[in-house]
Parts: sequence; structure tokens; C-alpha cells
Amino acid sequence: MSRKDAEAEHAKLNAEIAAHDLAYHQNDAPTISDADYDALRKRLLDLESHYPALAKTSVLQKVGAAPSGKFAKVQHQVPMLSLANGFADDDVIEFLGRIKRFLNLPEDAALDMTAEPKIDGLSMALRYENRKLVQAATRGDGATGENVTANILTVKNIPHTLPLSAPDLIEVRGEIYMSSNDFAALNEKLIQDGEKPLANPRNGAAGSLRQQDPNITAARPLKFFAYAWGSAAKLPADTQWGVVQAFKSWGLPVNPLMVLCHSAKDLLAHYRAIEAQRSTLGYDIDGVVYKLNDLALQARLGFVSRSPRWALAHKFSAEQATTRLEGIDIQIGRTGALTPVARLKPVTVGGVVVANATLHNEDEIARKDVRIGDMVIVQRAGDVIPQIVGVSLRGVGAVPYGFPKICPACGSHAEREDRGSGKSDAVRRCTGGLICPAQRVERLKHFASRNAFDIEGLGDKIIEEFYADGLIAAPQDIFTLQARDARSVKKLNQREGWGQSSVANLFAAIEARREIALDRFIFALGIRHVGETTARVLARTYQSAEHLRDQMKLAGLSDENDARHELGAVDGVGSIVAEAVIDFFHEEHNIQIFDALLAEVKPQPLAAVASSSPVSGKTVVFTGALERMTREEAKAMAERLGAKVSGSVSKKTDLLVAGPGAGSKLKDAEKFGVEVIDENAWFERVGLN
Ligand code: IVH
Repeated sequence: MSRKDAEAEHAKLNAEIAAHDLAYHQNDAPTISDADYDALRKRLLDLESHYPALAKTSVLQKVGAAPSGKFAKVQHQVPMLSLANGFADDDVIEFLGRIKRFLNLPEDAALDMTAEPKIDGLSMALRYENRKLVQAATRGDGATGENVTANILTVKNIPHTLPLSAPDLIEVRGEIYMSSNDFAALNEKLIQDGEKPLANPRNGAAGSLRQQDPNITAARPLKFFAYAWGSAAKLPADTQWGVVQAFKSWGLPVNPLMVLCHSAKDLLAHYRAIEAQRSTLGYDIDGVVYKLNDLALQARLGFVSRSPRWALAHKFSAEQATTRLEGIDIQIGRTGALTPVARLKPVTVGGVVVANATLHNEDEIARKDVRIGDMVIVQRAGDVIPQIVGVSLRGVGAVPYGFPKICPACGSHAEREDRGSGKSDAVRRCTGGLICPAQRVERLKHFASRNAFDIEGLGDKIIEEFYADGLIAAPQDIFTLQARDARSVKKLNQREGWGQSSVANLFAAIEARREIALDRFIFALGIRHVGETTARVLARTYQSAEHLRDQMKLAGLSDENDARHELGAVDGVGSIVAEAVIDFFHEEHNIQIFDALLAEVKPQPLAAVASSSPVSGKTVVFTGALERMTREEAKAMAERLGAKVSGSVSKKTDLLVAGPGAGSKLKDAEKFGVEVIDENAWFERVGLN
């Protein structure tokens, strides 16, 4: 190409890209696909590498011009939760028993339940205001999802309007999925285009939905089933069945295999019937969902952690395949656990290619006598990590596996703890703590992960690279990255695969997290045994990061003290969790990291739950016999209303609800001057009489 031609081509590409940038950023209406856009930019870049002088006038110099590939965030007004799982028939019987015990119903009471297929797709919330579809959001982490309205508007079986019989506001929830035929056709096309085929229809649906260009989504046949709801001005019925029938009458697609059942026997019969049709349905399902029909009873039952007590996902049993075990890799987790991972000759299990599977721990390998070179049985159930269930054929010359006693990452001893029980822990752990690079990296990954600090652009691979290059060694370093980069000679944007805009995006994502909810902050610390639920409980109890730190330091001073007692009395914190939290704050280097982080970020206290409730923020104890509700229901109700429920009375208790037969707690209440009321007065107090 002559220099003149190159200049002309450069000017043309420049103008074209600038126009697309405008369409994308200012009009929110891109006219080409991400891939085509990227191809244009690549052509321009190639041209400039041959004629460097052209770069001076290039649109590529502009920061933030490239589509970020991001969707706007949507806060779910009613959280999108998940379902408890059951596998065996007994789990179903136990589920019904639990509901009856919670509600204090006789054991032989009949319960109306719905049963319907569990669709293996992606959950979606469709918001209809004045009967018009105004917003579609993915589930995300349950609290915040992504706004995918433009893409959902292209899904053919989702109505854009509802009839007048629908309420002014309703958020319809359900599953987006791709049929088996459409999935097969999509994969065929991807292969023809020289692209990688997708693993399963669920990935097909997810990938199609996440397109920045709705035209691509429109070309991919997605479908929807409505089965639940979030906010609603008014519900069209007072049963699960009734609401779903109303959805159907409004023109929303509902699953034809939903039935109403009256006993465990009915539910199990329907489960078998659906399982028998599984392969001919034309879409993937991975179980049957049971829901209590009566919505008033659903409300009484409420939730436990992230799943409703009134529903159960009865999963189908797993699918299996046989393949060769080619090796065993040892991964080091953030708490130092050595986890054996089976490296397999890739094999398809239930439609998904599996190349790695968990081997659980040392004892499991020994129990199954799994050896490298063996033919092994791999099992996969739904989203669960595939596992090795056993050996099908011994490999020629295979020798018993010797589990490493030394951490492969840092060379420290790896030990199995004996927590005073005389029995050693199943998990072997590296004793290197923070000198172990694998643990440090895993902690960083956890820190930046979705349910923790959720720093977009700082994924696992990038963290590994930044750690290896000494850019980030501890969590607080993330927040000083930009300032250090400004002073450094080798800038981030000179790294392979990085450009001005990706660096700018990363810095913006980090800045956006300087204010963070306290529960996320606590969860991100990666304290052993402290998951999201416990982190939330600690955030509610201690209200600030500094207060948590100070109280835990105090608790660690002796075996018996007020701070330790208070922690032990927090509902949802058992002795193992309490010890783990105290241990964490006892370690000087943890405190150093904690304080260095607090110099960079401002954790925000959680908004009180149901702050208008007369018992919110109060510590309540229930004792004696309760007649109108079970103890479990009482506790759940109090928590729903924002109260803390404690098992013992102390000077911090605000209210003791005492039924007949109350004993020592009543005496304690008198001693500490705690208000005592009976069960009826409790209902009056919370306005539920
Ligand atoms: S009900 C409060 N019904 O399964 C719970 N969920 O494992 C509302 N799912 O996140 C969910 N089919 O995405 C419900 N018939 C069905 C379902 C279903 C698939 C998905 C849903 C949920 C996940 C939980």
C-alpha cells in the first residue's frame, strides 16, 4: 500500500470508528457488533504499526472510546434468591416435615404444593409498569443484577405489554433458556465460522443474553418461562398456583408441566413422571421444584440464609462417564487447604466436556484407592463441580498415590489439624500462612471477587500476573495501584494486552469500591468459616469495621470476657466461627492489613432491616412454651423485623418474650431489669394481632 493510500484508509477508518463510538456512548444505540467493531480497531492499529506517523491523529489515542462491554446495574427491590436442594426421596419427606414443624401443624396434615420442572437456564426479572415491560434484569449476586432490557425485548415469547387485568406494577420472574435444537444449530454455526462451540444450552443462553448488540441476541432464539415474582402492587391470587395461572392468562409463557399436589407421594410421582420425559422435552431441566401453594404460609415460613423455607429443588441424579486419570494436581486454597484435583482425559458427561474433577481430600483418594493411570468414573450433577466416584479399571503398573506432606507452592509443612477432638482434620493445610505465595494470591482473588469487593477487570488471571510482577502483594495495594502507576516508569498501559482504556476502566472500577458495604468488607477479608451470611451478621452486630476489630482484640485477651460472650451470643455465630474470627484478629499481620485497608476504603454500615418495625435493632430472647408459633418461627419473625435473637439474657437484652414454664431466663431478666412480655403482647407489639 502506498503512503497516500494508507493515509486515505486511515482517515476512513478513523471516521468510521468515531461514528460508532458516538452511537455507542452518547446515543446508547450501537449499530455494529462488538466483534466487527474490534476488527475495525485492529485494522487501524495494524495500519499504524506500519506507518507510525499516522498514530498522532488516531482515534485510538482517545481514552474510554472502546465499548466497555458493561451493562448498567439494577438493584433488586426484592432479592433474587436460590433454592435449597434435595436429592433423595427422604429429602422431600423431610422437607414437608420441616414445614409442618415450623408451622406447628399436625404430622398428618395435608399440604398443597406445586411441582414443576427446574429449568436449567438463567433467572430473569421482568418489570412491568402500567402493564408495559420497562426493565429486564439478570439475577447477578441476588442483590444487584445487570440491565439487559434491550436484549430481552428481542425474546419472542415475552410480551411487551400485559392486559388490563394485570396490576399497575408487577415484577415477573422466571427462566431464560435455549431449546436443545436451537442450541445445536447455534453450535453448528459457530463451528462453521471457525469459533469455539459452547458447552451447553445454558451457556448458549447466557452468552446470547450478554451481547452488547441486541441484534445479535435477536438472532439467537431465546425463550422464557414465568414461575415467580418480585415486587407487585397487588397479586392476582393468594396461591402459587393461582398467580401462575394469572400469568398464563396475561399471555406470559408458563411451564405446562406444573401440577398441584397434596402429599409427598403425589410430589414423588410427578417427579418420576417429569424425569421420564426429560430427554424429550426439548430443553434442559435439572430437577423438579416444589413450592408450598398457600402464599400466606409462604410468608410465615420466610427464608433461611438465601433460600425460602417453602420451596425445594429436587435434583435429578447425576450423570456419569468413564475416562483416564492423567494426573493429580494439588491446588492451595486461601486458607492453605491442599485440594487434590484430578486431571482427566477430556470426556463428555451429560453434554459437558469435563477435563478436571475434584478428588476431595487425602482420605478420599486413599478410600477409593484412586491411582494415576486408572480408568475412573466421573460424575456431574448440575452446576456442582464434577467428582471422581471411583475406579473402574486399574491402570497397568499404577502405584498408590502419595499425598504431598509439603506445600508445593512454598515448601512449608502441610499438616492435618487435630482440633482437640483426637481426630485429625480431613484437610491437609499448608502451615506457611502469608509466606505462602499460593495462599496470598488466593486471598487476593477472594478479596476482589464478585461477592466481596467485586472489582471488575481484576479477575483471577490478572491478579496472578500482578502478584507475580510485584504490583499487588496485599489487598491494600489494589488501592494504591493508580498512584504508584503514575510514578512508575513502566506503566500498566504498556503491558501486553492492556491499553489506555482498559487501564482507565480498571482504575475507575477500583475507585468505585472505596466505599463498600461493611458486610462485603468483612467477607472479603477471607476469615476462615466466615461466609457471606456470617459476614452480614457480624456487620449488623458490630456496625463498623473499627468496632469489630476492637471487640475481637478484646475477646482474644482471655478465655472469659464480655466481648467473647457477646460474640458467642450472636445468632448464627457458633464456637468454631467465633474462634476463627478471634484468631484472625489475634494475628498481627492481619491487623496490619486490616488497618492499611481502612486507610484506603470506607466500609459503610448496613441499613437497618425494617427500620420502621418497633423491634428493629432490639435484642430479643424467647423462653418458655409458645403457643401461637414455634420457636423457630418466632426467631425467624423477629429477625425479619430487624431484631437480633439471642439464646441467653444479659444486660444487653431489650426484651424477653416468656411463655408458660419460663425459668432461669425470667430470673435473669429480673436481675438485669429487662422488659418481659408474653406471646400475645409480642404479637401486639409487632402489630400482627
Ligand atoms: S423458584 C425464591 N422455580 O433455580 C426462589 N426457580 O436454584 C425462586 N429455577 O435462581 C425460584 N426453574 O433461576 C424457581 N421452576 C422454577 C425454576 C427455578 C429454574 C432456577 C432459578 C433459581 C435457581 C435456584
